[in-house]
Amino acid sequence: MEKNWWKKSVVYQVYPQSFKDTTGSGMGDLNGIIEKLPYLADLGIDVIWLNPIYQSPLVDNGYDISDYFKINPEYGTIDDFKQLLKEAHRLGIRIIMDLVVNHTSDQHEWFKKSCASRENAYADFYIWKDPKADGSPPTNWGSTFGGPAWTYVESRGQYYLHLFAKEQPDLNWENPKVRETIYDMMKFWFELGIDGFRMDVISLISKRQDWPDAPNDAVYTKSYYIGASNGPRVHEFLHEMNQKVLSQYNVMTVGETANTNSDQAILYTDPKREELNMVFHFDHMHLDYGPYGKFSDVRFKMSDLRDVMTEWQSKLEGRGWNSLYWSNHDQPRAVTRFGNDTKYRVESAKMLGTLLHMMKGTPYIYQGEELGMRNVRFDSLDRYKDIETIGVKNDFEAKGLPESYIQKSIFLKSRDNARTPMPWNGREKSGFTTGTPWINFSPDNETINVENCLEDKDSVYYHYKALIRLRKELPIVVDGTYELINPTDSDVYGYMRRLERQKLVVICSFSEHKVNYLLPEELKRDAGKLLLSNYQDTKKELGNLELRPYEAVIYLIEA
Ligand code: NOJ
Repeated sequence: MEKNWWKKSVVYQVYPQSFKDTTGSGMGDLNGIIEKLPYLADLGIDVIWLNPIYQSPLVDNGYDISDYFKINPEYGTIDDFKQLLKEAHRLGIRIIMDLVVNHTSDQHEWFKKSCASRENAYADFYIWKDPKADGSPPTNWGSTFGGPAWTYVESRGQYYLHLFAKEQPDLNWENPKVRETIYDMMKFWFELGIDGFRMDVISLISKRQDWPDAPNDAVYTKSYYIGASNGPRVHEFLHEMNQKVLSQYNVMTVGETANTNSDQAILYTDPKREELNMVFHFDHMHLDYGPYGKFSDVRFKMSDLRDVMTEWQSKLEGRGWNSLYWSNHDQPRAVTRFGNDTKYRVESAKMLGTLLHMMKGTPYIYQGEELGMRNVRFDSLDRYKDIETIGVKNDFEAKGLPESYIQKSIFLKSRDNARTPMPWNGREKSGFTTGTPWINFSPDNETINVENCLEDKDSVYYHYKALIRLRKELPIVVDGTYELINPTDSDVYGYMRRLERQKLVVICSFSEHKVNYLLPEELKRDAGKLLLSNYQDTKKELGNLELRPYEAVIYLIEA
């Protein structure tokens, strides 16, 4: 089998809980994914990334695993999973799973045993520390979802570390037994036939052993970064994992690496170092952060976005590999965040797809992105299910922020924006379930749904399909180098890919008005042919352009 197949692949992220329910439970399941495989095959994607489907109390929707070898019965059985693998492979689609090994659930047997005493086989599976002399926690770190990152357990007279919820205790990667156990578990899934892993918060697994306090001005919920992100042994651990497990199989890996810059990303993804294939960075996700972090009412600037994307494209050229994404289950909908989700919803969703999919790297599509789904506004804040959203709401209320601000920031940034059930059609229950969905539907489902998109040849869906096809047909999309065109234009993000004598010209307007776009001399000399546009009747030959709102065009120069 071809190596590095992941460089040519497009990944589609399925959030199993919200994809397709076949039992009437209101939660999606594995048989639902099997049922919809032909839809994904038709879109043309190569790989499915499944969010966690393991046994879990679902405190953080599956990112709290209580048994790594069992499928959550809500989703089906291990036989259903084998069937999914078989059917997907038959259609030429690979499956990667989520590997959540920075932490487990507090309901995991290992943790229960670890809590019981300081002397047993699992005593050092987690990170236990004595209280400070005054009884307070070992460091001042806050946890991601609010409150301290340490919780005291009477039976041991010690605190355990949890960078996320208290129900998500961190594993102790310093303990070789922990690492071996994780590697064995990974082998179990590879032997079953999976094609890779997306590795949850993998940049956090190695903690500084001098346990420093964060400076007082650090953002509380991220204060653990000081001692946990890109820690002293993270590369050693990942290299070891690579040698003992990953290198034995022809699989792909993508690490989720918060707080990781492009230099550090090279360390994770340089093939010579034998760690991971690619990482998810957050630099473009941070462009609309503000005084309240993610939940701030700030709009990104196109020039900042262009700077960030260009930095990553350039830095990793020939040294690592990029993953390309606008959205996932932790982020709001891309068209709301980076486009215009009302008047130009369709145009701007296609423009964003164009901008991302013609870049160098492996693109990821989050379910519903290919329909141009936008953020939801539940009619009451009590309808939000996500632990992060609930934590932020409580925190903002405690700080006395106005109700209107709390509501607005949740509308803008809640993870539940992305977690509403997939709208398969516009009828009651959206073709998702026959029961009561675990979370509200988006009110848009009547109009923005799969059935409508498939019927409308101008839909976002067909544009994504065309983008995926271009990647398959043109090696320049996979291998070409990247450079900016008109790097200071205030409305238009233009770039070019080059491979041997070919050039691929990608021009994307972020303006809601018409803008004139003058090509640089070098490109004026060449004859470029239009490959794709998000408007009818775009000029077939490359030349100076009058771009309409959110217009996106791709030309190929064969010179
Ligand atoms: C990142 C996951 O994507 C997110 O959903 C989860 O809450 C945290 N890691 C903790 O596992």
